[in-house]
Amino acid sequence: MLRERFSLAGKTALVTGASRGIGRAIALGFAEHGADLVLSSRKREALESVAKEVEALGRQAHVATVNMSDEASISALVRGLEGAGLVIDVLVNNAATNPVMAGVLDLGIAAWRKVFETNVTGVFLLSQAIARGMASRGAGSIVNIASNGGLHATPALAAYGASKAALIHLTKTMAMELGPRGIRVNAIAPGLIETHMARALLDHQAGYEAYLKRNPLRRHGQPDEIAGAALLLASDAGSYANGEVLVVDGGATL
Ligand SMILES: NC(=O)c1ccc[n+]([C@@H]2O[C@H](COP(=O)([O-])OP(=O)(O)OC[C@H]3O[C@@H](n4cnc5c(N)ncnc54)[C@H](OP(=O)(O)O)[C@@H]3O)[C@@H](O)[C@H]2O)c1
Repeated sequence: MLRERFSLAGKTALVTGASRGIGRAIALGFAEHGADLVLSSRKREALESVAKEVEALGRQAHVATVNMSDEASISALVRGLEGAGLVIDVLVNNAATNPVMAGVLDLGIAAWRKVFETNVTGVFLLSQAIARGMASRGAGSIVNIASNGGLHATPALAAYGASKAALIHLTKTMAMELGPRGIRVNAIAPGLIETHMARALLDHQAGYEAYLKRNPLRRHGQPDEIAGAALLLASDAGSYANGEVLVVDGGATL
């Protein structure tokens, strides 16, 4: 039955950036479909509030803080998972940062480094550690939350766009290398979604109106409109998708 192929019953999913926005929506969507969750981001209090929502859906939630720009913090997260006996079947690399909007002539090296350390290096390190366990079991699914900004250039977003382009390339390389080990690796490229990260773009009246004209649906998206795509790629419903980038942006042209 196709409905059963969307089930994550018996699986544990680690979602980074699960404290709000798209990560929270994915975590709750996965819990609705039977998964237990490991919820991760920097702020424990916000994660504990999402953990309560997961538990209200009848699933288990484990909170594990991490700073994805810090190698030692990622190692500590992985050690903590091992210590707690948590086996990760699905990894959603969703946490990311976009601290600055600046043209390339003004973009500072500190902001560039922060974006790459969080959005690329951190994802590489966590994926490598989690995929080693998945490879030993011969099964797993990794979903990377990229961006349509990683597919098309956007002025003032050079570091963020380049980081998401790198993530898309990492997705495809990992899919090629890990497919034979039973691990699928895919990405989602969302368009403009109403979250904390998108606030500056949503509040920029002229830019937002121009965006609406380029978007056939004439609106921005909501976090739970990304959760369905993540469920498809994470679950057996997407069992033949590998190395794919699923664009979920209302058909916007850039
Ligand atoms: N919103 C959009 O329009 C849009 C479009 C395309 C792609 N995306 C992508 O969607 C994903 C989710 O973004 P969002 O829009 O939901 O943004 P958001 O609401 O700002 O959420 C970002 C999440 O990442 C966590 N986070 C940030 N820096 C972190 C770090 N260094 N270490 C660990 N966790 C960190 C935050 O929690 P803490 O503060 O607790 O750490 C939060 O849970 C990102 O990959 C983003 O690039 C978003």
